[in-house]
Amino acid sequence: MERRINSKPFSLKPRPYRPNATKANMNIQVVKTRPDAQTVTSVTHWSETLFSFRVSRPQSLRFRSGEFVMIGLLKDDGKPLLRAYSIASPSWDEELEFYSIKVPDGPLTSRLQKIEAGDEIILRPKPVGTLVLDALLPGKRLWMICTGTGVAPFASLLRDPETYEAYDQVVLAHTCRTKQELAYGAALTSALPNDPLIGELVGDKLRYYPTTTREPSQNEGRISDHIRTNQVFETLGLPLWTPAEDRVMVCGSMALNKDIMSLCEARGLNEGANSKPAEFVVEKAFVD
Ligand code: A2P
Repeated sequence: MERRINSKPFSLKPRPYRPNATKANMNIQVVKTRPDAQTVTSVTHWSETLFSFRVSRPQSLRFRSGEFVMIGLLKDDGKPLLRAYSIASPSWDEELEFYSIKVPDGPLTSRLQKIEAGDEIILRPKPVGTLVLDALLPGKRLWMICTGTGVAPFASLLRDPETYEAYDQVVLAHTCRTKQELAYGAALTSALPNDPLIGELVGDKLRYYPTTTREPSQNEGRISDHIRTNQVFETLGLPLWTPAEDRVMVCGSMALNKDIMSLCEARGLNEGANSKPAEFVVEKAFVD
């Protein structure tokens, strides 16, 4: 059952990052017990298996939209249990947002799913990752392809004005088992064009292509198959990928990543990295 703790899951306003203002409007008392602790400011449960949460942002933390950090909780023995999590909020946001699955017997998420506003998590402020605009050569269209919680880094990039400044069209293609599992990405993409500040920049550049594999919906099946059959291009009225115009970011399971990489390579796109930007980049979605 869906349980919304906060009524505003998304913060779309591109306010400049001002570390000292972070706690200004919070009625949560922040008393850190460890130097690497951050305070949870809100939690949103999207389904029985998915939730997002926002935490205070360390004053020193700078990151590029799309990167990930290590976060976690203390174990009973007092040692930290950390996992890689993509930052789902954009680089300008005063807080940090994360999106997670709930694994009943997962070492971290079995406990993390119970956090509430005011609780502490551990955050190691060393952001890294390849799903960044810098790792791609300039292009016309940016395709973001993901499964499950792999949508998290794209939730960051989709709220970054630089994404729309760099590309004429931005496509979010998200495959999940059910419509409920798509809810986080669906809410984000439907809110973006109407946002009073970033909405104008988003305009009609953003295209959302959700697919479900275990429940009937408008687009049924895996995104990899929809690319292979050209269905996604026909539905969106967009041309097939070319190295000159298209850039692709991929974040999902190993199987998805491999499939989309092959499809990119078949169209002549090369894999890029921070040190050598090219036409597509890939990162594994992190799970417990
Ligand atoms: P499917 O239901 O056909 O396995 P999971 O819940 O197992 O993490 O998977 C998330 C979504 O990713 C599911 O809809 C799943 O489809 C889909 N998926 C799994 N492997 C691939 C792949 N190689 N290409 C595209 N989608 C995939």
